[in-house]
Amino acid sequence: MGRSESSFSWLAMLVDHGSLSLLAEDGWSLVNLTEAARNPGSSELPGDMVVIDYRQPGAQTLLEAYALRRPEVGFLLIGDDLPAQAVRALFRFAASDVLSAGATPEMITAACRGLAGQIRKTGETKNSSMCWAMRGAVGGAGVTTLAIELAFAVQQRHPTWQVGLIDLNLTDGMSAAFLDGQKKLDVAGLCAAPERIDPTLLRAYSWEHEKGIYLMAAPRAPLAEDVATRDGVLRLLDVACGMFDHVVVDMPRHRTPWTDPILAAVDEVLVVSELTVPSLHAAGDLCREIDAIRIGAAPSRLVLNRMFAKRSHRHSFPIDKAERAIHRKIDFTVRSDWDSARMAANLGMPIAQVKARSPLVRDVASLAGVLSGESEADTERDAA
Ligand SMILES: Nc1ncnc2c1ncn2[C@@H]1O[C@H](COP(=O)(O)OP(=O)(O)OP(=O)(O)O)[C@@H](O)[C@H]1O
Ligand SMILES: [Mg+2]
Repeated sequence: MGRSESSFSWLAMLVDHGSLSLLAEDGWSLVNLTEAARNPGSSELPGDMVVIDYRQPGAQTLLEAYALRRPEVGFLLIGDDLPAQAVRALFRFAASDVLSAGATPEMITAACRGLAGQIRKTGETKNSSMCWAMRGAVGGAGVTTLAIELAFAVQQRHPTWQVGLIDLNLTDGMSAAFLDGQKKLDVAGLCAAPERIDPTLLRAYSWEHEKGIYLMAAPRAPLAEDVATRDGVLRLLDVACGMFDHVVVDMPRHRTPWTDPILAAVDEVLVVSELTVPSLHAAGDLCREIDAIRIGAAPSRLVLNRMFAKRSHRHSFPIDKAERAIHRKIDFTVRSDWDSARMAANLGMPIAQVKARSPLVRDVASLAGVLSGESEADTERDAA
């Protein structure tokens, strides 16, 4: 997931202050993590470098929170006989190191300096993949359709990229049906041994579309959510973000043990609404709920789907009035194109392949451009 801009001068720690006094002399700002360790789920996770003594209360939870939400930091773990779950979490960081519980302040300082050097080098050469998650305000809002089109829009902008499309509607996801693809994701296998998941296994769980899209979708299984575990699903996402250039996630609408950690960690969350008052209100509420857990991350974006296709009708829909009613900005609109959407679904193809000039496809291309950091003027010109 995205690397943040960093000057490598903040050090967050859950260790004895004195051990790090030498680094403070180097000009590093030190932040104590005792408070964050009490409630890492809703705390900001500061620092470019993190040092944690595994014997401190809350160390494992904090380690996992950093591994998921801030994998770009350098992580130094201090402790003896570390359990496998701690070691596994350490693998996720851009750079990590372990010192024994008896390490001296000089050893800790040297390890921190070494990690800072490694991170600078990685930052110059490697961009971790972006991950966008999409969730519907109401059923049928168009999440699966837009997730598929967004994945294709990203791939079209970067033809050499491999884009992962993960359908986390584990019981009855539709993305494979929309693409006439295979459902190769083995949820039971994935969750029985999350530590076994690596890029090779994830390739076996993916169906490759000819256009460089890798779909991870599970066969229909009414009880899949009883089998799915938080560790398994988070590991799936983690490995996918490491191996694909970009990842788009089709999230279920209901809450599970793994939805909040994912929504907190991804680079962008898109909440999709249809053009009705109840849906817009639900979307506003959902955005606020999601933003409450995205501390320090970009706020969720509200996408109004199936907007009037005709320009004259669009102008007559008072977006500003709708925004005032739901106390929330509508960030993007995607125009309606039932004929193309229906034809594409019946052919098992993305709409972008069936009708490249569809207003829906053009709006999704603009959306992909803006989310990728282009100005709206640029993307509107490209899409015109
Ligand atoms: N912009 C659009 N214009 C026209 N039709 C659309 C548009 N977006 C989605 N659709 C159509 O709306 C229907 C529902 O879309 P989709 O299955 O993507 O919704 P969903 O939010 O994933 O639903 P669910 O809640 O069941 O997962 C589909 O028939 C799809 O083709
Ligand atoms: Mg869907």
